[in-house]
Amino acid sequence: MTIPACYTPVVMRNFLRTLPIFLLFPGLGTSALFAQTNAAPHLEKRGAATQLIVDGKPFLMLSGELHNSSSSNLEYMKPIWPKLKAMGLNSVVTPLSWELIEPKEGKYDFTLVDGLIDQARHENEKIVFLWLASWKNGMSSYAPVWVKQDPRRFPRVVERGNPVEILSPQGTATQEADARAFAALMKHIKEVDSRDHTVVMMQVENEVGVLGDARDRSDAANKAFDSEVPAQLTQYLPAHRDSLYPDLKDLWDANGNKTAGTWAEIFGDSERADEIFMAWHYGRFIQAVAKAGKAEYDIPMYVNTWLAGDNTPPGEFPSGCPEPWVVDVWRAAGSSLDFYSPDLYDARFELWARRYHRNGNPLYMPETRGEAAGAANVFYALGEEAGMGFSPFGIESETGDKGPLADSYGVIANIAPLLAEHQSAGDVHGFVLDRDHNAVDFTMNGYTLHVTLDEVFGSQASNGFGLIMADGKDAFLGAGKGFKVTFKPRPETASHVGVAAVDEGTFEDGKWVPGRRLNGDENAQGVSWRFDPRQERIEKVALYRFEEK
Ligand code: DGJ
Repeated sequence: MTIPACYTPVVMRNFLRTLPIFLLFPGLGTSALFAQTNAAPHLEKRGAATQLIVDGKPFLMLSGELHNSSSSNLEYMKPIWPKLKAMGLNSVVTPLSWELIEPKEGKYDFTLVDGLIDQARHENEKIVFLWLASWKNGMSSYAPVWVKQDPRRFPRVVERGNPVEILSPQGTATQEADARAFAALMKHIKEVDSRDHTVVMMQVENEVGVLGDARDRSDAANKAFDSEVPAQLTQYLPAHRDSLYPDLKDLWDANGNKTAGTWAEIFGDSERADEIFMAWHYGRFIQAVAKAGKAEYDIPMYVNTWLAGDNTPPGEFPSGCPEPWVVDVWRAAGSSLDFYSPDLYDARFELWARRYHRNGNPLYMPETRGEAAGAANVFYALGEEAGMGFSPFGIESETGDKGPLADSYGVIANIAPLLAEHQSAGDVHGFVLDRDHNAVDFTMNGYTLHVTLDEVFGSQASNGFGLIMADGKDAFLGAGKGFKVTFKPRPETASHVGVAAVDEGTFEDGKWVPGRRLNGDENAQGVSWRFDPRQERIEKVALYRFEEK
């Protein structure tokens, strides 16, 4: 039997491609396969998506971030893990602070790390550790006291002539100390976890950037600001001209596309230059910390972002954090960070998601809104933007296993392997609809799909969300609630399209198990494919075409 490539799962296709080699060299075959499944968690570009690969398979993170202090105590965490498991999480963004790991310089204590990994394993959860070290929300509250007490060795940012509670990224000793501790942590994680892969990613620092001023005004920073912009950055700009974030490109254009000069000469005499200067220095520092960690254990590492408000000056948001318009600057500063993430609380979820899902940067948000908003947005993030994962903040305060987020996670977990495949194939779309934004069109798999808020007997749902993927010829699989879909053939022909059948169902061990056939009120008597607003469902639709005569 020949299986058409387009219907064969990616993993299966790779296996079929390598099968003849395994048959010729059986020893090589098994060890190659073992190497593939035993590789450390890593990112892989698979077709249209960059995915997190754990134990040889894409791992879509249905996650949540703990409140800052919960994971500082194992007893406190004990009842939380089972609750998170019951809510359908497969991974937890877990804070870990420098002060608790290196309370005395050079003396590391990994008891907490080991305990958290054990607890996670017990509930079959994965961990993304959040390295709270030199910076947390711009400030430096999680640095050990021996760092805070020694401003000569570990200098602070200066604002209006005074040092503030923010470590300066100019501090070479600070960078070395942070990097040394992070490297020790990664070495330890490798020792205890390189077989089980409970720890799948690392967030390095948290929402960094100068608060209270647009830049550091210490003597060292002033001197650097009045010096030439490093060639590493000035060469990056022309080399990446076509992919630069539009605002950065416009700013560089407006100031004459210079490739030599001071910060103010190249980026203009404004707070924008201050912000870029800070982005460069935080970028250089944190790339170095990540590099030291990766030298010990190379798993994906990223930095998160406190998103700026509209027309807000840098300093009111942490100046230098990887806002979309300075991600290029961070990338110029090094390549050890794998991607940049938004902490996406803004109501314009789609806009910010698109700003980060660009130019090779995959979408993952370690912090976002949960409850009903999160339950909807997760479909957009994973369906429309090929997101690697989703993670509402303060997850242990979420309603629980009966809440809206748990419903969405349950549905997405059920279709996760298929969704990952269709992210790669690029034939899945996700959407969130409400009364102000009540329709969206997609073209895929030979049809234009018109998706609107669900309506039955004249009454319209107030919101709806979901995702739809191709499911073979004239067929689609969808998940979500509160929307309906009508179809037109592509390219447009004289053929009419009818709904042959709608089935609800679920996957059990990867096999589709249909439930009810929904061919009455549930699909408006064959007119549309409907997703009832009362409950999230997974449904398949089969279409047929017919000519007028
Ligand atoms: C964003 C920060 O990154 C988190 O650590 C936490 O402080 C939340 N804000 C609180 O809303």
